[in-house]
Amino acid sequence: MGNPKPADQTHDYVRIFDTTLRDGEQSPGATMNVDEKLAIARQLERLNVDVIEAGFAASSPGDFESVQRVAQTVTEPIVLSLARTREADVDQALRSVEKARRPGIHIFIATSEIHMRHKLNMTREDVLEAATWAVARAKQHLDYIEFSAEDASRSEWSYLAMVCAEVIRAGAQVINLPDTTGHAIPEEFGRMFAYMREHVPDADRVIWSAHCHNDLGLAVANSLAAVQNGARQIECTINGIGERAGNTSLEEVVMAMRTRRDLMGVESRVNTRQIYPASRLLAQIIGQPVPPNKPIVGDNAFAHEAGIHQDGVLKYKLTYEIMQPEDIGIPSNKLVMGKHSGRHAFVNRLAELGIDTGAIDVNKAFADFKALCDKKKIVYDDDILALVQEETRHSAEWFELADLRVTSASGAAPQAEVTMRVRGEPRSARATGDGVVDASYKAILKIAGIAPVLERYSVKSITGGTDALGEVSCLVRSDGMTVAGQGAHSDIVMASALALVNALNRLKLREGRTTELARS
Ligand code: KIV
Ligand code: ZN
Repeated sequence: MGNPKPADQTHDYVRIFDTTLRDGEQSPGATMNVDEKLAIARQLERLNVDVIEAGFAASSPGDFESVQRVAQTVTEPIVLSLARTREADVDQALRSVEKARRPGIHIFIATSEIHMRHKLNMTREDVLEAATWAVARAKQHLDYIEFSAEDASRSEWSYLAMVCAEVIRAGAQVINLPDTTGHAIPEEFGRMFAYMREHVPDADRVIWSAHCHNDLGLAVANSLAAVQNGARQIECTINGIGERAGNTSLEEVVMAMRTRRDLMGVESRVNTRQIYPASRLLAQIIGQPVPPNKPIVGDNAFAHEAGIHQDGVLKYKLTYEIMQPEDIGIPSNKLVMGKHSGRHAFVNRLAELGIDTGAIDVNKAFADFKALCDKKKIVYDDDILALVQEETRHSAEWFELADLRVTSASGAAPQAEVTMRVRGEPRSARATGDGVVDASYKAILKIAGIAPVLERYSVKSITGGTDALGEVSCLVRSDGMTVAGQGAHSDIVMASALALVNALNRLKLREGRTTELARS
């Protein structure tokens, strides 16, 4: 059986379906607001991904709006929304992508015994009927339909093949077989694709897609095994974020196919030079730093520590390097500009760092940059990212920090006086605490009227020196929801307050979202 070649495809390649905004956002603490999602979507377009899963429109009005806005913003990738096989879900998903230049819908239902019996309380026949009904309904309105058999890797193959055959007959163009629980081993996962392509009638008329979770650390390996067995779409997320241990990491799978094209024979059409900017942008937005040893995008991914390695690389790069840092867009020189740098150079630098200059007030960012140059001799990329991150935060958020004053003297309890705008209305409070950060947090929470648990609080100096920008990350939990917050400022107390306010805004965003719907 030949490789699938849809009408618009002149050569064989692996499509990249990015689900950072849907499955990725299900990662604890990774909630994004609409503006943040748009910034990611624009970067995904620069990356040249084929499909963007922008959200799960029926799960909340906020998700609906995000999908709609992404659909109106990007032009090249297909934009789709996830939907269950219910009428309301399908219709809402269709509405959300109405204005997309290339709209799509992603319908899913579970096909494993364990999910059908214990989660859905449906028989095999019920599931088959629901799946074909939903695909047929969507097909009346739109052509690009992906169907996912949730928990495919634990489903009985002959039944799975029957479901695939029926949804293809009903009009599905892409069949996705997820390893929902991250349970599969590459060889068996690959065999499942080979089996389906052999046993499902008209299998060569559709694109077969792999969607893997990383519970056993095998998501990338499983995705590659699927490709070796005929899959021509991989579903993945930037930095591998996602439910539990995450999803297939976009950067890893793309670079694996590129670096080993000798063996794989196919690769994606991703503009790999946009990988590093994408990784940094996401890390900044969700406040989850990339671990230093993360393949491809971690700080140590290209760092050679051992003397023998350094010696080898100096003599001939390829002795220890299988990829070039420039290929993934790692800036060759981390030292950037100083007070003599002009606006043009600054704007260029922002673009190189993956910052969407259309989404920020560039004049203000440049003024802030100049102010920072006055304070610091050397300004690094990370300083610029931190500075602009404060810019990209949505100004029309629920809570905004307007003023913070703290006093601390030996023998007296540290005090904080905070003024915030709550939906535009100024409110103030004072508090004392164990230190000035504690006092500020108490005052902020008094104003917000929420009492979340602070699960994690960490301070990091972004670059060296006592004048460095400090970045604070915190993780707070309230009503079973965990969200992250970040703040960057040259004053650590201010950075801490900004981080908490950012987390409170994310809590507000999550409030009312029926996220249980989207959990897979
Ligand atoms: O992991 C999964 O099965 C999913 C589906 C909804 C595609 O995310
Ligand atoms: Zn998933």
